[in-house]
Parts: sequence; structure tokens; C-alpha cells
Amino acid sequence: MPTPPSSPLPLVVLLSGRGSNFQALLHAIQAGRLNAVIRAVISNRPGAAGLAMADQAGISTAVVDHREYEDRESYDTALRIAIDAHAPALVVLAGFMRILTPAFVRHYEGRLINIHPSLLPRFRGLDTHARALQEGVTEHGASVHYVTEELDGGPVILQARVAVHPGDTEELLAVRVLKEEHRLYPAAVELIASGRIRWREHRVWLDGKPLETPLLLDHDLQSIP
Ligand code: GRF
Repeated sequence: MPTPPSSPLPLVVLLSGRGSNFQALLHAIQAGRLNAVIRAVISNRPGAAGLAMADQAGISTAVVDHREYEDRESYDTALRIAIDAHAPALVVLAGFMRILTPAFVRHYEGRLINIHPSLLPRFRGLDTHARALQEGVTEHGASVHYVTEELDGGPVILQARVAVHPGDTEELLAVRVLKEEHRLYPAAVELIASGRIRWREHRVWLDGKPLETPLLLDHDLQSIP
């Protein structure tokens, strides 16, 4: 007898702006390539374009505006309450431009992931494309990782590589990387939704074995969403 399909993984997406990674996740769900459901999109910025897209798609939205809170602790407490109202199994940071407090990160240990526009551990932090060009690397890309207290330092699940071409500008490179991000994030979330990737004992496991090095899109994944 075929095994019944498992229920979709409930997500809450956090974003601050454009929201193209949120849109990529939504498209993958709508196309049946990602077994998940986006229960809410939450932003720290009222004008975030991603909020309008979520609204149009009939997804619940909320704004927790950082300007209304005195400090990071009170902000993160309010954010946690807004998120937990939707009881997500996974919280997905998709261009959420806030540094999170250790208490917040600990609360979501193993349930909080981020996408970062570089091949981590290279180029943590901001301006990754400009820094990659400055250093003259020939390969750049994007990473999906679990969030830990170390900024952009949590264990990486899946990466996508792009070549850096002679004459590349920051803008050209940003476009090339973003295109890969839109394939990468749904693929990484599906690894979690399907139970292939799990967080246990403070580390990442793939198919029941500790994941020692990040998976590479198109190399380590037979079929990608
Ligand atoms: C992406 O480049 C992502 O890697 C970074 O923030 C950007 C968000 O873009 N964390 P978008 O809002 O998803 O279009």
C-alpha cells in the first residue's frame, strides 16, 4: 500500500522588504513542489513589498514594527508572540533585516532557518557581492542555514554555487545569485518538510546521519523542487 502523504509543514515567514524569496516558496507550494503551508508573513517594516504579495495570496500578515519598541529584548518578545500565535514548525527568515537576540534564537533552536547570499562561511554579514568581487573569487553563491547565536554562523544545510565572470558588477552578480536563491530556498525547506533533514542534539542530520558538509544543489540532490 502506498504511504499516505504527510501533512504540510506549517511555516511562518519573516521579511523586511522585497520578498522575492517568500514568493519563490509560495510558488513552489502552489506548484506542489514543496509540502508546506505558509501560515503567516510577518515584517518589521509596514511598507514591505512582501506583505502586499502575501495579502494578495490570502496569507495572514502582521507587522511588528521595531520602531515601537525600546530595545531588542522587548521587540523580540513581541515578535515571538506574533509568530507563536501561528504555531509554525519552522520559522523562515527571508530577507529579515534584524539582528536577533540570543533568547529569541534559543527559543527557536532547530526551527529557525535563514538564506544568506554567499557561500558560508565566506562573507558573513552585509555587502556580500561587493566583497566577493573585491576579493576576486571565481565562485560565489548562496546558503541556507540553521540560525544560531553566531551571526550567519549556524550549520549550513544546502548551498548553490554561481560562477563569477570577468567584468561582473555587483548588480550582475546579485541577479545571478538571487536566481539561484529562488531554487535553493524551496529545495532546502522541502528537505526539512520531507524529514530528510532534521535538527537533533544541537546538530543537523541528513537521512539519520550527521551532516558533515553542506549539500550542494544539483550535485547532492537527485531531484530538486
Ligand atoms: C536575499 O538576497 C537573501 O539572501 C538575503 O536578503 C535578500 C532578500 O531578498 N537574506 P528578498 O526580499 O527575498 O527578495
